[in-house]
Amino acid sequence: MRHFDYKDGEMFAEDVALRDIAKTVGTPAYVYSTATFTRHFNVFADAFKGRKALIAYSVKANSNIAVLATLAKLGAGADVVSEGELVRALTAGIPAQKIVFSGVGKTESEMRAALKAGIRVFNVESLPELEQLSDVAVSMGTRAPVAFRVNPDVTAGGHEKISTGKAENKFGIAWSSVESAYARAGELKGIEIVGVDMHIGSQIDSLAPFEKAIEKVGALIAKLRAQGHTIRSFDIGGGLGIPYGDNTKTPPPPSEYGALVKDLTSEMDVELIFEPGRMIAGNAGVLLSKVIYAKSGEDREFLIIDAAMNDLIRPALYDAYHEIEPVKASGRDFNTQIYDVVGPICESGDTFTKRRELPEMKAGELIVLHSAGAYGASQSSQYNTRPLIPEVLVNGDQFSVVRDRPSLEDILRAESIPDWI
Ligand code: LLP
Repeated sequence: MRHFDYKDGEMFAEDVALRDIAKTVGTPAYVYSTATFTRHFNVFADAFKGRKALIAYSVKANSNIAVLATLAKLGAGADVVSEGELVRALTAGIPAQKIVFSGVGKTESEMRAALKAGIRVFNVESLPELEQLSDVAVSMGTRAPVAFRVNPDVTAGGHEKISTGKAENKFGIAWSSVESAYARAGELKGIEIVGVDMHIGSQIDSLAPFEKAIEKVGALIAKLRAQGHTIRSFDIGGGLGIPYGDNTKTPPPPSEYGALVKDLTSEMDVELIFEPGRMIAGNAGVLLSKVIYAKSGEDREFLIIDAAMNDLIRPALYDAYHEIEPVKASGRDFNTQIYDVVGPICESGDTFTKRRELPEMKAGELIVLHSAGAYGASQSSQYNTRPLIPEVLVNGDQFSVVRDRPSLEDILRAESIPDWI
Protein backbone atom coordinates (compact mmCIF):
# COMPACT_ATOMS: atom_id res chain seq x y z
CA MET A 1 0.00 0.00 0.00
CA ARG A 2 1.34 3.39 -1.00
CA HIS A 3 0.91 6.30 1.33
CA PHE A 4 1.54 8.72 -1.54
CA ASP A 5 -1.33 8.08 -3.88
CA TYR A 6 -4.24 9.60 -5.78
CA LYS A 7 -7.62 10.23 -4.20
CA ASP A 8 -10.28 11.81 -6.36
CA GLY A 9 -7.76 12.75 -8.99
CA GLU A 10 -5.08 14.34 -6.87
CA MET A 11 -2.15 13.05 -4.93
CA PHE A 12 -2.23 12.79 -1.19
CA ALA A 13 0.37 12.00 1.42
CA GLU A 14 -1.70 9.83 3.75
CA ASP A 15 -4.79 12.01 4.30
CA VAL A 16 -3.23 15.34 3.38
CA ALA A 17 -3.50 16.76 -0.14
CA LEU A 18 -0.06 17.66 -1.46
CA ARG A 19 -1.68 20.75 -2.95
CA ASP A 20 -2.42 21.95 0.60
CA ILE A 21 1.17 21.43 1.65
CA ALA A 22 2.41 23.34 -1.40
CA LYS A 23 0.02 26.16 -0.55
CA THR A 24 1.29 26.35 3.03
CA VAL A 25 5.04 25.86 2.66
CA GLY A 26 5.64 26.55 -1.02
CA THR A 27 7.71 24.45 -3.38
CA PRO A 28 10.05 22.70 -3.63
CA ALA A 29 9.62 20.74 -0.39
CA TYR A 30 10.24 17.27 0.92
CA VAL A 31 7.15 15.50 2.24
CA TYR A 32 7.45 12.43 4.47
CA SER A 33 4.87 9.90 5.60
CA THR A 34 4.86 8.71 9.21
CA ALA A 35 2.77 5.68 8.21
CA THR A 36 5.42 4.58 5.71
CA PHE A 37 8.30 5.01 8.15
CA THR A 38 6.33 3.01 10.68
CA ARG A 39 5.42 0.26 8.26
CA HIS A 40 8.98 -0.09 6.96
CA PHE A 41 10.48 -0.18 10.41
CA ASN A 42 7.97 -2.76 11.61
CA VAL A 43 8.36 -4.93 8.52
CA PHE A 44 12.10 -4.98 9.09
CA ALA A 45 11.73 -5.67 12.82
CA ASP A 46 9.18 -8.43 12.19
CA ALA A 47 11.63 -10.14 9.87
CA PHE A 48 13.83 -10.79 12.92
CA LYS A 49 11.14 -11.73 15.43
CA GLY A 50 12.44 -14.31 17.83
CA ARG A 51 16.03 -13.14 17.49
CA LYS A 52 17.88 -10.60 19.57
CA ALA A 53 18.37 -7.81 17.06
CA LEU A 54 19.14 -4.10 17.22
CA ILE A 55 17.91 -2.10 14.27
CA ALA A 56 20.23 0.87 14.18
CA TYR A 57 18.67 3.10 11.53
CA SER A 58 21.37 4.68 9.40
CA VAL A 59 20.96 8.36 10.17
CA LYS A 60 22.71 9.52 7.00
CA ALA A 61 19.75 8.40 4.90
CA ASN A 62 17.42 10.97 6.44
CA SER A 63 18.63 12.73 9.52
CA ASN A 64 15.74 15.06 10.33
CA ILE A 65 15.16 14.86 14.09
CA ALA A 66 11.42 14.39 13.62
CA VAL A 67 12.13 11.33 11.50
CA LEU A 68 14.58 10.06 14.12
CA ALA A 69 12.07 10.67 16.90
CA THR A 70 9.40 8.79 14.94
CA LEU A 71 11.74 5.81 14.63
CA ALA A 72 12.95 6.12 18.23
CA LYS A 73 9.37 5.66 19.40
CA LEU A 74 9.22 2.41 17.46
CA GLY A 75 12.35 1.14 19.20
CA ALA A 76 14.99 2.02 16.63
CA GLY A 77 18.62 2.58 17.45
CA ALA A 78 20.94 4.63 15.26
CA ASP A 79 24.00 4.15 13.09
CA VAL A 80 25.88 7.46 13.13
CA VAL A 81 29.00 8.61 11.29
CA SER A 82 29.72 12.01 12.83
CA GLU A 83 29.33 13.94 16.04
CA GLY A 84 26.54 15.84 14.35
CA GLU A 85 24.58 12.67 13.68
CA LEU A 86 25.30 11.48 17.23
CA VAL A 87 23.83 14.68 18.65
CA ARG A 88 20.82 14.36 16.35
CA ALA A 89 20.17 10.79 17.48
CA LEU A 90 20.47 11.68 21.17
CA THR A 91 18.32 14.80 20.70
CA ALA A 92 15.61 12.67 19.09
CA GLY A 93 15.55 10.39 22.13
CA ILE A 94 17.50 7.40 20.84
CA PRO A 95 19.23 5.83 23.86
CA ALA A 96 23.04 5.90 23.68
CA GLN A 97 23.13 2.15 24.20
CA LYS A 98 21.31 1.74 20.88
CA ILE A 99 23.81 3.88 18.96
CA VAL A 100 26.64 2.47 16.87
CA PHE A 101 29.36 4.72 15.45
CA SER A 102 30.60 3.90 11.94
CA GLY A 103 32.91 5.66 9.50
CA VAL A 104 36.53 5.52 8.34
CA GLY A 105 37.62 8.86 9.75
CA LYS A 106 36.37 9.35 13.29
CA THR A 107 38.24 12.23 14.92
CA GLU A 108 39.51 12.37 18.46
CA SER A 109 36.79 14.79 19.51
CA GLU A 110 34.10 12.58 17.96
CA MET A 111 35.46 9.60 19.89
CA ARG A 112 35.39 11.64 23.08
CA ALA A 113 31.79 12.72 22.53
CA ALA A 114 30.64 9.18 21.79
CA LEU A 115 32.46 7.72 24.80
CA LYS A 116 30.98 10.41 27.00
CA ALA A 117 27.50 9.59 25.72
CA GLY A 118 28.09 5.88 26.35
CA ILE A 119 27.31 4.45 22.92
CA ARG A 120 26.93 0.73 22.25
CA VAL A 121 29.89 0.15 19.93
CA PHE A 122 32.48 1.78 17.70
CA ASN A 123 32.79 0.12 14.31
CA VAL A 124 36.53 0.54 13.84
CA GLU A 125 37.99 0.53 10.35
CA SER A 126 41.78 0.72 10.76
CA LEU A 127 44.64 0.13 13.19
CA PRO A 128 45.54 3.82 13.48
CA GLU A 129 41.90 4.49 14.41
CA LEU A 130 42.05 1.69 16.99
CA GLU A 131 45.18 3.10 18.64
CA GLN A 132 43.67 6.58 18.71
CA LEU A 133 40.43 5.29 20.22
CA SER A 134 42.32 3.39 22.90
CA ASP A 135 44.34 6.50 23.81
CA VAL A 136 41.18 8.61 24.08
CA ALA A 137 39.42 5.98 26.21
CA VAL A 138 42.41 5.60 28.54
CA SER A 139 42.61 9.39 28.95
CA MET A 140 38.95 9.32 30.00
CA GLY A 141 39.51 6.40 32.37
CA THR A 142 37.28 4.07 30.37
CA ARG A 143 37.34 1.37 27.69
CA ALA A 144 35.79 1.70 24.26
CA PRO A 145 33.51 -1.12 23.04
CA VAL A 146 34.79 -2.11 19.61
CA ALA A 147 33.80 -4.19 16.61
CA PHE A 148 36.05 -4.20 13.57
CA ARG A 149 34.38 -3.49 10.29
CA VAL A 150 35.76 -6.26 8.16
CA ASN A 151 35.89 -6.11 4.40
CA PRO A 152 34.69 -9.46 3.06
CA ASP A 153 35.58 -8.56 -0.56
CA VAL A 154 32.13 -9.21 -2.00
CA THR A 155 30.67 -7.35 -4.97
CA ALA A 156 27.41 -5.66 -4.06
CA GLY A 157 25.49 -2.48 -4.60
CA GLY A 158 23.51 -0.69 -7.22
CA HIS A 159 26.22 1.68 -8.43
CA GLU A 160 29.99 1.86 -8.42
CA LYS A 161 29.86 4.91 -6.14
CA ILE A 162 27.91 3.06 -3.44
CA SER A 163 29.62 -0.33 -3.43
CA THR A 164 31.69 -0.72 -0.29
CA GLY A 165 32.58 -4.35 0.35
CA LYS A 166 35.23 -4.87 -2.35
CA ALA A 167 38.90 -5.15 -1.47
CA GLU A 168 39.62 -2.02 -3.52
CA ASN A 169 37.26 0.13 -1.41
CA LYS A 170 38.51 2.35 1.39
CA PHE A 171 36.21 0.68 3.89
CA GLY A 172 36.92 -1.82 6.63
CA ILE A 173 39.90 -3.90 7.64
CA ALA A 174 41.42 -5.88 4.78
CA TRP A 175 40.48 -9.53 5.10
CA SER A 176 44.09 -10.66 5.42
CA SER A 177 44.71 -8.30 8.38
CA VAL A 178 41.62 -9.03 10.43
CA GLU A 179 43.12 -11.56 12.83
CA SER A 180 46.15 -9.42 13.61
CA ALA A 181 43.85 -6.43 14.16
CA TYR A 182 41.85 -8.36 16.77
CA ALA A 183 45.09 -9.54 18.36
CA ARG A 184 46.28 -5.93 18.64
CA ALA A 185 42.91 -4.82 20.05
CA GLY A 186 43.23 -7.53 22.70
CA GLU A 187 46.45 -5.90 23.91
CA LEU A 188 45.17 -2.35 24.20
CA LYS A 189 44.10 -1.04 27.60
CA GLY A 190 41.41 1.25 26.27
CA ILE A 191 39.68 -1.32 24.07
CA GLU A 192 37.02 -3.90 24.82
CA ILE A 193 36.31 -6.21 21.87
CA VAL A 194 32.56 -6.86 21.58
CA GLY A 195 31.83 -7.90 18.04
CA VAL A 196 32.30 -7.94 14.29
CA ASP A 197 30.82 -5.54 11.74
CA MET A 198 30.36 -5.39 7.98
CA HIS A 199 28.52 -3.26 5.44
CA ILE A 200 28.92 -4.35 1.85
CA GLY A 201 27.07 -1.76 -0.20
CA SER A 202 23.80 0.00 -0.84
CA GLN A 203 20.75 -0.60 -3.04
CA ILE A 204 21.63 -4.29 -3.13
CA ASP A 205 18.99 -6.08 -5.19
CA SER A 206 19.71 -9.74 -4.51
CA LEU A 207 20.38 -11.93 -1.51
CA ALA A 208 23.47 -13.60 -2.96
CA PRO A 209 26.08 -11.04 -1.81
CA PHE A 210 24.61 -11.00 1.71
CA GLU A 211 24.74 -14.78 1.81
CA LYS A 212 28.34 -14.89 0.66
CA ALA A 213 29.50 -12.20 3.09
CA ILE A 214 27.61 -13.56 6.11
CA GLU A 215 29.03 -17.04 5.55
CA LYS A 216 32.53 -15.62 5.30
CA VAL A 217 32.16 -13.53 8.44
CA GLY A 218 30.49 -16.43 10.28
CA ALA A 219 33.58 -18.56 9.74
CA LEU A 220 35.69 -15.63 10.88
CA ILE A 221 33.69 -15.30 14.12
CA ALA A 222 34.36 -18.96 14.94
CA LYS A 223 38.06 -18.44 14.28
CA LEU A 224 38.26 -15.29 16.42
CA ARG A 225 36.50 -17.03 19.28
CA ALA A 226 38.94 -19.92 19.03
CA GLN A 227 41.67 -17.31 19.42
CA GLY A 228 40.11 -16.20 22.69
CA HIS A 229 38.17 -13.10 21.61
CA THR A 230 34.71 -12.33 22.91
CA ILE A 231 32.36 -11.81 19.97
CA ARG A 232 28.89 -10.95 21.22
CA SER A 233 27.47 -9.05 18.27
CA PHE A 234 27.48 -9.36 14.51
CA ASP A 235 26.57 -6.12 12.72
CA ILE A 236 25.43 -6.96 9.21
CA GLY A 237 25.23 -3.31 8.10
CA GLY A 238 22.56 -1.93 5.82
CA GLY A 239 22.27 -2.10 2.08
CA LEU A 240 18.99 -3.82 1.30
CA GLY A 241 17.63 -2.18 -1.84
CA ILE A 242 14.16 -0.77 -2.48
CA PRO A 243 11.93 -0.64 -5.56
CA TYR A 244 12.34 2.71 -7.33
CA GLY A 245 9.52 2.09 -9.76
CA ASP A 246 11.57 1.47 -12.90
CA ASN A 247 10.71 -2.24 -12.81
CA THR A 248 14.17 -3.26 -13.91
CA LYS A 249 15.22 -4.68 -10.57
CA THR A 250 13.05 -5.67 -7.67
CA PRO A 251 15.07 -6.21 -4.49
CA PRO A 252 13.98 -9.03 -2.19
CA PRO A 253 11.50 -8.04 0.53
CA PRO A 254 12.80 -7.71 4.11
CA SER A 255 10.98 -10.92 5.06
CA GLU A 256 13.16 -12.94 2.65
CA TYR A 257 16.27 -11.10 3.73
CA GLY A 258 15.34 -11.77 7.36
CA ALA A 259 14.72 -15.45 6.76
CA LEU A 260 18.09 -15.83 5.08
CA VAL A 261 19.98 -13.93 7.78
CA LYS A 262 18.23 -15.82 10.58
CA ASP A 263 19.02 -19.09 8.92
CA LEU A 264 22.69 -18.30 8.26
CA THR A 265 23.28 -17.00 11.78
CA SER A 266 21.17 -19.47 13.76
CA GLU A 267 24.19 -21.32 15.15
CA MET A 268 26.43 -18.31 15.63
CA ASP A 269 25.19 -17.30 19.09
CA VAL A 270 25.46 -13.59 18.34
CA GLU A 271 23.26 -10.60 18.82
CA LEU A 272 22.43 -9.18 15.40
CA ILE A 273 22.77 -5.50 14.58
CA PHE A 274 21.45 -3.93 11.37
CA GLU A 275 22.04 -0.50 9.88
CA PRO A 276 19.24 -0.05 7.32
CA GLY A 277 18.83 3.42 5.87
CA ARG A 278 17.25 3.45 2.43
CA MET A 279 14.94 0.53 3.23
CA ILE A 280 13.34 2.54 6.03
CA ALA A 281 13.35 6.03 4.55
CA GLY A 282 13.56 5.82 0.75
CA ASN A 283 9.92 5.31 -0.10
CA ALA A 284 8.73 7.31 2.91
CA GLY A 285 9.33 10.62 1.16
CA VAL A 286 8.65 12.55 -2.03
CA LEU A 287 10.10 15.71 -3.46
CA LEU A 288 7.21 18.06 -4.19
CA SER A 289 7.99 20.55 -6.92
CA LYS A 290 6.33 22.81 -9.46
CA VAL A 291 6.74 23.21 -13.19
CA ILE A 292 8.20 26.65 -13.88
CA TYR A 293 8.23 26.37 -17.66
CA ALA A 294 7.43 23.80 -20.31
CA LYS A 295 9.98 24.54 -23.03
CA SER A 296 10.43 23.16 -26.52
CA GLY A 297 14.01 22.37 -27.48
CA GLU A 298 15.41 21.54 -30.91
CA ASP A 299 14.49 17.87 -30.65
CA ARG A 300 12.78 17.49 -27.31
CA GLU A 301 10.41 18.91 -24.73
CA PHE A 302 11.69 20.09 -21.37
CA LEU A 303 9.86 20.44 -18.11
CA ILE A 304 11.82 22.95 -16.06
CA ILE A 305 10.84 22.46 -12.43
CA ASP A 306 11.66 24.47 -9.32
CA ALA A 307 13.60 21.61 -7.66
CA ALA A 308 17.17 21.08 -8.77
CA MET A 309 20.23 18.91 -8.29
CA ASN A 310 21.12 20.77 -5.09
CA ASP A 311 17.83 19.51 -3.60
CA LEU A 312 18.06 15.94 -4.93
CA ILE A 313 21.46 15.00 -6.31
CA ARG A 314 20.85 11.27 -6.81
CA PRO A 315 20.08 11.39 -10.57
CA ALA A 316 23.14 13.56 -11.26
CA LEU A 317 25.47 11.55 -9.04
CA TYR A 318 24.31 7.97 -9.54
CA ASP A 319 22.08 8.13 -12.64
CA ALA A 320 19.33 7.24 -10.17
CA TYR A 321 15.78 6.65 -11.34
CA HIS A 322 12.94 8.42 -9.50
CA GLU A 323 9.36 7.87 -10.52
CA ILE A 324 7.75 11.17 -11.52
CA GLU A 325 4.03 11.95 -11.40
CA PRO A 326 1.83 15.00 -11.59
CA VAL A 327 -0.02 15.90 -8.39
CA LYS A 328 -3.22 16.38 -10.38
CA ALA A 329 -4.22 13.22 -12.14
CA SER A 330 -6.67 14.80 -14.56
CA GLY A 331 -4.30 14.77 -17.51
CA ARG A 332 -3.18 11.25 -16.79
CA ASP A 333 -5.60 9.47 -19.04
CA PHE A 334 -5.26 12.00 -21.82
CA ASN A 335 -2.18 13.17 -23.66
CA THR A 336 1.32 12.17 -22.79
CA GLN A 337 4.57 13.72 -23.86
CA ILE A 338 8.19 12.60 -23.85
CA TYR A 339 10.02 14.95 -21.50
CA ASP A 340 13.41 15.75 -20.13
CA VAL A 341 12.69 16.91 -16.58
CA VAL A 342 15.33 19.38 -15.48
CA GLY A 343 16.08 21.89 -12.74
CA PRO A 344 17.08 25.54 -13.09
CA ILE A 345 20.80 25.11 -12.25
CA CYS A 346 23.37 26.00 -14.89
CA GLU A 347 24.75 22.50 -15.36
CA SER A 348 23.63 19.84 -17.82
CA GLY A 349 23.84 17.39 -14.92
CA ASP A 350 20.87 19.15 -13.37
CA THR A 351 18.58 16.67 -15.07
CA PHE A 352 16.17 14.41 -13.20
CA THR A 353 15.29 12.27 -16.18
CA LYS A 354 15.70 12.16 -19.93
CA ARG A 355 13.16 11.07 -22.49
CA ARG A 356 10.52 9.93 -20.03
CA GLU A 357 6.90 9.58 -21.11
CA LEU A 358 4.74 11.56 -18.70
CA PRO A 359 1.28 13.11 -18.73
CA GLU A 360 1.38 16.43 -20.52
CA MET A 361 2.06 19.20 -18.02
CA LYS A 362 1.94 22.98 -17.97
CA ALA A 363 3.68 25.76 -16.08
CA GLY A 364 2.39 26.11 -12.53
CA GLU A 365 1.41 22.47 -12.13
CA LEU A 366 2.69 20.48 -9.17
CA ILE A 367 4.82 17.41 -9.71
CA VAL A 368 6.31 14.77 -7.39
CA LEU A 369 9.50 12.78 -7.53
CA HIS A 370 9.01 9.57 -5.60
CA SER A 371 11.42 7.56 -3.45
CA ALA A 372 13.14 10.72 -2.26
CA GLY A 373 12.97 10.03 1.47
CA ALA A 374 16.50 8.63 1.66
CA TYR A 375 19.61 10.51 0.55
CA GLY A 376 17.47 13.41 -0.64
CA ALA A 377 17.38 16.16 1.96
CA SER A 378 20.39 14.70 3.73
CA GLN A 379 22.55 15.16 0.62
CA SER A 380 21.18 18.54 -0.37
CA SER A 381 23.17 21.76 -0.58
CA GLN A 382 22.65 25.45 -1.19
CA TYR A 383 24.45 25.47 -4.55
CA ASN A 384 23.43 28.49 -6.61
CA THR A 385 22.38 30.08 -3.29
CA ARG A 386 19.18 28.14 -3.39
CA PRO A 387 18.04 27.83 0.23
CA LEU A 388 17.70 24.30 1.63
CA ILE A 389 14.12 23.28 1.10
CA PRO A 390 11.60 22.64 3.87
CA GLU A 391 10.82 19.18 5.16
CA VAL A 392 7.25 18.31 6.07
CA LEU A 393 6.16 15.30 8.10
CA VAL A 394 2.63 14.01 7.55
CA ASN A 395 0.81 11.88 10.09
CA GLY A 396 -2.74 10.88 9.10
CA ASP A 397 -4.58 14.11 8.39
CA GLN A 398 -2.03 16.37 10.05
CA PHE A 399 1.26 17.74 8.87
CA SER A 400 4.07 19.69 10.42
CA VAL A 401 6.99 21.61 8.96
CA VAL A 402 9.91 19.80 10.56
CA ARG A 403 12.55 21.90 8.85
CA ASP A 404 12.02 25.51 7.83
CA ARG A 405 13.20 26.99 4.60
CA PRO A 406 16.01 29.38 5.59
CA SER A 407 15.71 32.94 4.37
CA LEU A 408 18.43 34.51 2.27
CA GLU A 409 19.32 36.58 5.36
CA ASP A 410 19.83 33.32 7.28
CA ILE A 411 22.23 32.14 4.61
CA LEU A 412 24.20 35.37 4.38
CA ARG A 413 24.41 35.76 8.16
CA ALA A 414 27.05 33.03 8.31
CA GLU A 415 29.33 34.92 5.93
CA SER A 416 31.32 38.12 6.35
CA ILE A 417 33.49 40.50 4.35
CA PRO A 418 36.95 41.02 5.95
CA ASP A 419 38.03 44.54 6.95
CA TRP A 420 40.77 44.71 4.31
CA ILE A 421 38.34 44.70 1.41
N1 LLP B 1 25.93 1.49 7.30
C1 LLP B 1 27.00 2.06 6.73
C2 LLP B 1 28.31 1.90 7.36
C3 LLP B 1 26.84 2.81 5.55
O1 LLP B 1 27.91 3.35 4.98
C4 LLP B 1 25.55 2.95 4.96
C5 LLP B 1 25.37 3.70 3.74
C6 LLP B 1 24.46 2.34 5.61
C7 LLP B 1 24.69 1.62 6.77
C8 LLP B 1 23.06 2.43 5.09
O2 LLP B 1 22.94 1.82 3.85
P1 LLP B 1 21.49 1.64 3.17
O3 LLP B 1 20.71 0.68 4.03
O4 LLP B 1 20.84 2.97 3.12
O5 LLP B 1 21.79 1.10 1.83
N2 LLP B 1 23.85 8.25 -1.23
C9 LLP B 1 23.70 6.96 -1.86
C10 LLP B 1 23.80 5.84 -0.86
C11 LLP B 1 25.05 5.89 -0.03
C12 LLP B 1 25.14 4.83 1.03
C13 LLP B 1 26.23 5.13 1.97
N3 LLP B 1 26.33 4.24 3.08
C14 LLP B 1 22.39 6.94 -2.63
O6 LLP B 1 21.68 7.92 -2.65
O7 LLP B 1 22.09 5.94 -3.28
